Amino acid sequence: MAVTRVGHVELFSADLDRSADFYVDVLGLIETERDDDHVYLRCLEDREHHTLILTRAAGNGLGHIGFRVDDPADLDALAAAYRADGIDVVEVDAEEERAQGPAIRLRDPLGFPVEFYHRVEPVARTLRTHGNRGPSRLDHLNLRLPGPVDAGVAYYRERLGFLISEYALHPDGTTFAAWLHRKQTTHDVALVQGPGTLIHHVGLYVPESHDVLHVADRMAARGMQAQIEFGPGRHGITNAFFSYIRDPDDNRIEIYSGDYLIPDPDFEPVAWTAEEFEATGRLAWGARPPASMYEGQPVADWSRPPARASA
Ligand SMILES: [Fe+2]
Repeated sequence: MAVTRVGHVELFSADLDRSADFYVDVLGLIETERDDDHVYLRCLEDREHHTLILTRAAGNGLGHIGFRVDDPADLDALAAAYRADGIDVVEVDAEEERAQGPAIRLRDPLGFPVEFYHRVEPVARTLRTHGNRGPSRLDHLNLRLPGPVDAGVAYYRERLGFLISEYALHPDGTTFAAWLHRKQTTHDVALVQGPGTLIHHVGLYVPESHDVLHVADRMAARGMQAQIEFGPGRHGITNAFFSYIRDPDDNRIEIYSGDYLIPDPDFEPVAWTAEEFEATGRLAWGARPPASMYEGQPVADWSRPPARASA
């Protein structure tokens, strides 16, 4: 069984037209398709029908996380493994979610709405030479857990085969944050201790640091200065250049550039003490984060995973 990467994410929006306009016209994503309750978006180099779904809902937050597996048979193996742990698994047919093949859905042991799929309908990628400056790809998710993340890290490593790139420890030796990956970048998922079981942000990758600044300019041109939350700056952890923004529903997006490659599976994880994290881990340089950065957004309750895509 191998998860290849975080494949897509569903975010809730109370105003789909307003939100789609923001993602396409301000951030530069591509709209593949929409229906009454969903807008299906992708980044330039994404080669699937959607990597970001906006779903009509009363408020904001995470609808589900879609992890891609590299073999259709992995879905059966994963379903069996979760069921053996007493977790309710719902099998969904192709097209229950538009353009997606057969999939399984469950609330994972950490409390997040998670789907595993092998195939989403392919689409042609778009390259820089088309002149578009939008994000290259869906890069990562940052999730919050209400306590040290050691058990969460163990789950991601043991069940899903994730590797650790960097981690930060409390003085008592428990882990308060870990960056975990399947693709060969610093992370697909970050787990960070926080005020609850929440999504903190979706990371979209842009190839150049000036693309991060370009998004801020585009937002300013729309009068959206108040939605530029934190940054620009550079993280010590991941070494990425970043800015955190809020979409029109206050979902948080990180515009993220220039983390490093992890070409070897035996990469030695980088350890940070709490002191080092505060000094140069969160920020190699940049203005300190506002208090709002410690907030997260809610996640859909899949204690009964839906047979159809959420709406
Ligand atoms: Fe999905």
